[in-house]
Amino acid sequence: MKWWQDAVIYQIYPRSFQDSNGDGIGDIPGIISRLDYLEELGIDAIWLSPVYESPNDDNGYDISDYRAIHPEFGTMADMDQLIEEAKQRGIRIIMDLVVNHTSDEHQWFVEAKKGRDNPYRDYYIWRDPAEDGGPPNDLKSTFSGSAWEFDEASGQYYLHLFSKKQPDLNWENPKMRQEVYDMMNFWLEKGIGGFRMDVIDLIGKVPDEGITANGPKLHEYLQEMNRETFGNYDVLTVGETHGATPEIAKLYSDPERRELSMVFQFEHMTLDEQPGKSKWDLKPLDLPELKQVLAKWQTELDGKGWNSLFWNNHDTPRIVSRWGDDQEYLVESAQMFAILLHLMKGTPYIYQGEEIGMTNSPVTDLSQINDIESRNMYDERLAQGWSKKDILLSINAKGRDNARTPMQWDTTEQAGFTTGEPWLAVNENFDRINVEKSLEDSGSIFYTYQELIRLRKEHPLVVWGDFRLLAPDHPTVFAYERSYKGETWIVVANVSGRDIHAKLSKHSEKVAPLINNYMKSTYDLHSLELRPYEAFVAKRR
Ligand code: NOJ
Repeated sequence: MKWWQDAVIYQIYPRSFQDSNGDGIGDIPGIISRLDYLEELGIDAIWLSPVYESPNDDNGYDISDYRAIHPEFGTMADMDQLIEEAKQRGIRIIMDLVVNHTSDEHQWFVEAKKGRDNPYRDYYIWRDPAEDGGPPNDLKSTFSGSAWEFDEASGQYYLHLFSKKQPDLNWENPKMRQEVYDMMNFWLEKGIGGFRMDVIDLIGKVPDEGITANGPKLHEYLQEMNRETFGNYDVLTVGETHGATPEIAKLYSDPERRELSMVFQFEHMTLDEQPGKSKWDLKPLDLPELKQVLAKWQTELDGKGWNSLFWNNHDTPRIVSRWGDDQEYLVESAQMFAILLHLMKGTPYIYQGEEIGMTNSPVTDLSQINDIESRNMYDERLAQGWSKKDILLSINAKGRDNARTPMQWDTTEQAGFTTGEPWLAVNENFDRINVEKSLEDSGSIFYTYQELIRLRKEHPLVVWGDFRLLAPDHPTVFAYERSYKGETWIVVANVSGRDIHAKLSKHSEKVAPLINNYMKSTYDLHSLELRPYEAFVAKRR
């Protein structure tokens, strides 16, 4: 058993968590001041989105110095203090490792740009223009437009799968790889709890063949990285792998292969997109499809890998706004999603604010948008003739700023996040949705999360039990069982805003909830009357 198998991880987006010096930007001392709150919630580790030196073209995912803390966030002494103070509370710090690309302001790229003979040139991916002088091929950037940027001085293009200020590193280069490993060891020696690996499935790319994810040498590099760095430490490693299927996930997380602890898969996160189109092209969620996808991951990784469980991160909309009801049934639907996720097998991740039911934050104008992905898409679609209204509809549904508005701590100005002007506007609902209120209300979303974490700690069934999906075709009920050493628990959720009736047992079978989100002390599985978003977990036998 590894420490991360019964752990719950909390993701912090540092820019938006807690400002301590009034500059409107969250920082490390701010995080330290909130560690007691996280301890009360009961989490085991924090995944910290990047705090390294960065020009912030993509809010820290464009790193210009991996061994320095961005002054906006504090100093290396603050970072050391965070690791230490978290440790005192039994909390580990997982660093975000962004090594598919650097910032164009990283010293390696500054050198590389000096000319074709520079020793750092080959740390990046350069190609001659196509015959017509255009880009070498038609690879596209995730942030719109070509993935190739022309460098006047040398007459070559460089590859950037994200913004042009995020040039891709050349993993074919062993010297570059070694420098990355040295840097990782620098952090491991500080006593961190592991790494979340940004778009790690892209490092084996073969751009000339149009291969980006899952390239032929990807797993060779990861095995080398494991040997050279974290394999020598008791840490958690989680890879961000967008196109992973369970088969692919097993390559990363089968312990025998000595690669990563687990990956983030995104199959369930794409179910409200029109197949074959982009994240911006929406379709309604089909619940049986969601159940089938999650059940597949639960059963197929069994014994050969490990699931990470999440509904939200800093790139996705808030789950309660996305598939729940962030108005009338905010509390019930947020608690329902928590119950559904935290009783599955795997390591759950909570994204900051999820535990108090923070919602999406709609905008009406481009000027309110910070995120580079949304801004670039806006320009691109406007030029293609889309209406402003339709573009904003997509951004309000899927834009990344939805998750990035400042953490709502209390009802004071700027929700207690900052005494200055926040870098991104605070959601106007902060007077209703905030930590202070949640802690005062014993029926709040916060306490459901706290209970769910406690349940995982107290019952090995939650960690190890087998998973079985029930009623797969039911249009609104999501139900499953977990079984371990002769004991079976049942988890039932009404994923709809209507009162419904369901039958999950042939005969009358009364069970008492261990956790639920309505005041009810028994449920008859033979004849279930479920209120909007009602959910419970109960012992069956
Ligand atoms: C995935 C990160 O989560 C996202 O925020 C970032 O923009 C891209 N990778 C590029 O680093």
